[in-house]
Amino acid sequence: MNHQDNRPIRLGVVGAGRGRSYMNVSEAVGFELVAICDTWEEKLERVGRELNVTTYNDYDRFLQHDTDAVVLCNFFHQHAPFAEKAFSAGKHVMSECAACHTLAEGVSLARAVERSGKIYMFAENYPYSAYNQEMRRRYQAGEIGDFKYGEGEYVHPDPAEVKLARSCGWDHWRNWIPSTYYCTHSIAPVMYITDTRPVKVNGFVVPYDTDDPTQTRHAKRSDTCAIIICRMDNEAVMKSLHGALRGHGNYVRIHGNKGLMENCRHGDKGRLRIWREPWEKETDQPTEEVYKPGFAVAADLATKTGHGGGDFFTSYHFAQAIRTGEQPYLDVYRGIDMSIVGILAWQSALNDSAPIKVPDFRSEQIRKQYENDDWSPDPERKREGQPPSSILGEIDLPTEAKDLAREIWAKQGYAVDI
Ligand SMILES: NC(=O)c1ccc[n+]([C@@H]2O[C@H](COP(=O)([O-])OP(=O)(O)OC[C@H]3O[C@@H](n4cnc5c(N)ncnc54)[C@H](O)[C@@H]3O)[C@@H](O)[C@H]2O)c1
Repeated sequence: MNHQDNRPIRLGVVGAGRGRSYMNVSEAVGFELVAICDTWEEKLERVGRELNVTTYNDYDRFLQHDTDAVVLCNFFHQHAPFAEKAFSAGKHVMSECAACHTLAEGVSLARAVERSGKIYMFAENYPYSAYNQEMRRRYQAGEIGDFKYGEGEYVHPDPAEVKLARSCGWDHWRNWIPSTYYCTHSIAPVMYITDTRPVKVNGFVVPYDTDDPTQTRHAKRSDTCAIIICRMDNEAVMKSLHGALRGHGNYVRIHGNKGLMENCRHGDKGRLRIWREPWEKETDQPTEEVYKPGFAVAADLATKTGHGGGDFFTSYHFAQAIRTGEQPYLDVYRGIDMSIVGILAWQSALNDSAPIKVPDFRSEQIRKQYENDDWSPDPERKREGQPPSSILGEIDLPTEAKDLAREIWAKQGYAVDI
């Protein structure tokens, strides 16, 4: 059912951290922010006062508020059950990454979207940076031929103090999530540009580094970074790299059988480089093009938002989907595809990087086989025999890390238990 009249779409946002970026762009794309929800009361009240919206510290009560749509920016590993509750309350849903934390949750989420008839958008913002949108446009126009090999990289190191401030609590998800799981920022752009999906994965990790103070002074007990090799459904291969290596940056590279496209690694990384071999290019084509693409639509608004405009376009496409009644490009199936790669890559890494098939949850027959698969390293839900967070097993936090964590978390206003 689409949102036919020109009424603003009444929006609620869960999570007052990352959720702020959705709150900030809501009006520009035709939402009216009416309610927010967070269990962290001080943060909730502060943001509620600043934005003059109704606040809730309880998700069930928040869902009773008169809204059309909700954005889920709660914890990384808790989105799927929140989405399902929102559908039961008759809301459209946009969900931050990951879409689901287990394969069983993926199955259940796909079914819930189909049952609900509501819009589900996976809020992957990286495909919508200007150079990724431009690569999609030029790839789809056939300019570098068929996709053969690709790379997506999301490398994000930070000092221990900065990381601790974002991960308050020993069991905050950022402190235990295995390094393969946060993979959608690096995989999504390649899927989006080439319209392919992963069908098989091999996972690798660079282990926790006892000589790296950004790890030994931090409360995180998982590995340095992950490399995931995906076989795509057109037989192309892609490499996803993400984690806390030195060399901050987001890079995408697409090799076709007629040329190469990538964003530049040097100087302004928003520039796009296209390369064609001199011996086979058309006469009027340059061998190399390097330029900084802009946005084809909504450039004024998009350039003011975070993550290279990506934060604008997720909300923009969510609003458009609600108004037209058509599921967005980043629908539930693509959201699940890219999220479960992280789970399966962890299974692979723990099994000497053996290949693992990526099930396609568009098919109920396939879903049936995974509906009880609750394999998870979540300290709250894991059972005997379920996986560790690091390839090295259980990491004991050094005393220095524990002391620094308590100090930083106290400054954040987070009550440390022990
Ligand atoms: N796409 C991006 O560029 C990007 C950037 C940052 C974060 N994220 C994603 O956004 C999500 C949130 O991350 P974050 O950086 O804000 O940190 P976070 O995960 O610490 O924040 C989650 C917020 O949700 C609140 N919350 C948790 N459980 C709740 C509940 N039951 N009811 C109401 N509120 C609840 C927490 O108090 C917290 O304020 C994560 O999934 C993360 O992966 C995405």
